[in-house]
Amino acid sequence: MNELFKSIKSLNVLKISSIIFFIVSLVIFWHLSLKKFFKFEGRIERSVEKMYDKDDLSSCCLFKGNYINFGYWKDELDETPISLEQRIESQKNLYHLVLNNLNISHNDNVLEVGCGLGVGTVLVSNDYKPKKIMAIDISKAQINRAKKINYKNIDNDKILFEVGNAENLSFQNSSFDIIFSIEAAQHFHSIDKFIDESYRVLNPSGKIAVASFFGTSKKSVSKLSNRIQTIKTGIDHVRPIDEIQRKFKKAGFVNIKISNIGKNVWSGFDRWAAQGELKNSWTRNWYYGYKHNLVDYYLITAEKKPTTYLTSIK
Ligand SMILES: C[S@@+](CC[C@H](N)C(=O)[O-])C[C@H]1O[C@@H](n2cnc3c(N)ncnc32)[C@H](O)[C@@H]1O
Repeated sequence: MNELFKSIKSLNVLKISSIIFFIVSLVIFWHLSLKKFFKFEGRIERSVEKMYDKDDLSSCCLFKGNYINFGYWKDELDETPISLEQRIESQKNLYHLVLNNLNISHNDNVLEVGCGLGVGTVLVSNDYKPKKIMAIDISKAQINRAKKINYKNIDNDKILFEVGNAENLSFQNSSFDIIFSIEAAQHFHSIDKFIDESYRVLNPSGKIAVASFFGTSKKSVSKLSNRIQTIKTGIDHVRPIDEIQRKFKKAGFVNIKISNIGKNVWSGFDRWAAQGELKNSWTRNWYYGYKHNLVDYYLITAEKKPTTYLTSIK
């Protein structure tokens, strides 16, 4: 009897130790491989919120300097590897390109939509000196990061970071002179709502500039989604550019100008991607899409109608 009791006891000890062993192995396995899998490393993302909240896309090797954009590569690149400084500069250049098209004055109230970590907002405030910039992002985590990263560099009377949705702006009619958005519009579920909302909160004669990627035609969009995971999962919407132009017009905007700037975006970005850990990932298909005329990068500028519109002089 005693012997039997002893063997049952040792069996239990064996069971418990195997369970502990199993749990410990699982934790180690999680840390070594699964956790890595759940970080952004070119894998399939599940939602915009996930991509920007927990994962902090700015820490992905594709982006640097707390910016998250493909960059505007002003100068022709030579054969030498792209430096970290060049990569950061390319992202600042995109901000400068957009803002140079807006003629900001010192009295302007500005809204940035999709500010990410807010380093671009600070750049705009320092380099163009508008009266005030309100910078919004749908991700609470991004806004917290923006406040933390930039707290030393911001004058709270000039820059405000706030959680907000491009499709449902929490501002009164005619609150801003300028609206700009850099590489965020591809995420908006309804670009119509963003365009209408922007029109509503702009002052008459106010200006808007949007930089993002769009499809070159309706057909190209479906072709692209087979190659780019974030399009397949609905995180990125690559809408045809002529449709976007019509939407701006329908909302009431005038002087709508569309420039394709892909020549200065895609090859530089792809060269950078080819240098890093993601050189074999689907992110390289963006360049394929550009080369096959499926996608391009655009700068859209437009103006809200002035209140009195001189149509004829009698
Ligand atoms: C690619 S990042 C660009 C960030 C920044 N403009 C830059 O160039 O570094 C896109 C940002 O748009 C934000 N975003 C996505 N959908 C949004 C929405 N509906 N309203 C406001 N922000 C949004 C994301 O949370 C993310 O921070």
